[in-house]
Amino acid sequence: MNRFEIGTLGLAACGAAALVATQANAEAHDDLETELATVEMSAADIVQARRVTYFLTTQAVGQIKGGIEEGGDLRRTRFAAQLLVRWAETLPSMFPEGTDIEGSRALPTVWSDREGFEAAAAAYRDAAQGVMDAAETGDREATNTAFLTMAGTCQACHDTYRQ
Ligand code: HEC
Repeated sequence: MNRFEIGTLGLAACGAAALVATQANAEAHDDLETELATVEMSAADIVQARRVTYFLTTQAVGQIKGGIEEGGDLRRTRFAAQLLVRWAETLPSMFPEGTDIEGSRALPTVWSDREGFEAAAAAYRDAAQGVMDAAETGDREATNTAFLTMAGTCQACHDTYRQ
């Protein structure tokens, strides 16, 4: 192989690398666009999805309690609390305008007092994070206290925003 060939190959390799980089950028861009894309979903499906998530929430709460009450480490508790943190973060987005339909137990206050509803979701998120953090330390009593605090945030939201 002479120098020229090496040079050409080198250039070709550079070109290929640049192409890959461009594609990677394009893909990253596509991902961003996909993430930000607005998709359509029927109000009935949204209501079903959020109600099912709430029923699954009670299962997660069972895992949290089970982990605290039974011996052993608190991994089960921590994992279930993490699910609730994630859910709490996205919770308000599952109550878009137009989903105040029959079959939903959401009160009109979810939409008329949006700020309060979002604050209630944020308090819930932080409380679930508190359970996660306490479980991480392995302190059963502290985890139980954090759990009771979190349960209070469920109740507080239901009092104002659920039938
Ligand atoms: C930020 C407010 C908020 C928080 C926090 C919250 N919920 Fe709810 N919850 C609602 C609303 C609003 C509904 C009604 C949803 C619907 O029917 O469209 C609901 C519905 C439910 C349902 C379904 C009831 C049914 O018959 O449809 C269960 C179960 C439930 N929540 C349990 C919980 C538990 C357990 C927690 C805490 C671990 C919790 N929720 C935290 C607002 C909240």
